[in-house]
Amino acid sequence: MTFRARHLLGIEPLAPDEITALIDRADTYAGMARRGEAPAPVLQGQTQINMFFENSTRTQASFEIAGKRLGAQVMNMGVASSSVKKGETLIDTAMTLNAMRPDLLVVRHPSSGAVDLLAEKVTCAVLNAGDGRHEHPTQALLDALTIRRAKGRLHRLTIAICGDIAHSRVARSNILLLGKLENRLRLVGPPTLMPPGAKDWGVEVYDDMTEGLRDADVVMMLRLQKERMDGGFIPSEREYFHRYGLDAGKLAAAKDDAIVMHPGPMNRGVEIDGTIADDINRSVIQEQVEMGVAVRMAAMDLLAANMREANTPRGVLT
Ligand code: NCD
Repeated sequence: MTFRARHLLGIEPLAPDEITALIDRADTYAGMARRGEAPAPVLQGQTQINMFFENSTRTQASFEIAGKRLGAQVMNMGVASSSVKKGETLIDTAMTLNAMRPDLLVVRHPSSGAVDLLAEKVTCAVLNAGDGRHEHPTQALLDALTIRRAKGRLHRLTIAICGDIAHSRVARSNILLLGKLENRLRLVGPPTLMPPGAKDWGVEVYDDMTEGLRDADVVMMLRLQKERMDGGFIPSEREYFHRYGLDAGKLAAAKDDAIVMHPGPMNRGVEIDGTIADDINRSVIQEQVEMGVAVRMAAMDLLAANMREANTPRGVLT
């Protein structure tokens, strides 16, 4: 079985071989980009609409570049200047755009579950570019590809995910993906930023960085999601950096060849020391951005192929 779904809403419904199919295709695109080879225009004649109801730099740019590299017509809906500001509901906006018959709808929304809801109402393929604290599937896929390229495998690795786990859709999608591929996962952060019930997810939970990072192969840092906090989660940013910010001292507990990741945007000096983030021997943060384009090309390529298949007389999609 390869990736056969109609939408990419989350990692949760994906089987391990679907994840591998997406990552393999992305790896091919990443290799082509590095060699300067042009990909086949598999999205030619297709319309892609990016609807971002939350701020974004890299994800939106990455989806736009990915679509354009594959020949799609890409339209970015400026939410700030759209009818959303006049009180139109998400569903009404989506239905209006759906009537213009796009092929791919890329959606980011501050409410968990909003993208799933929208996918039930439209006829095109929907890609979740992050919904609230729920899922961010393309981020987890690009993180997985980055890890596989750096470590040569994507199983039986010790991976520490650190910081604001409670508010992070990146953490959630990564926990699901890396868990499905049988890695050893550790969640590290202050108890106030640990979701209740985390201990039941088949992960180890730590509130001490040095213990949590011990012998880790991968150290994944997360941004403090201040926009999703209503105060009182950390004493101060200075104190937070002291206890949970990744610096050379804390990183020394991990394996000598451990890689450092961050989905961006980074708060330097809050969750990560700037010199670690810029250390090309440890940090793969720029590679994550590079893999982001390749993963989004792969996801849109495979979804468009599934749509074509569904429109042929014998095609069936679940
Ligand atoms: C992440 C997001 O938006 O969830 N960023 C991203 O997609 N590159 C992480 C974050 O905002 O902290």
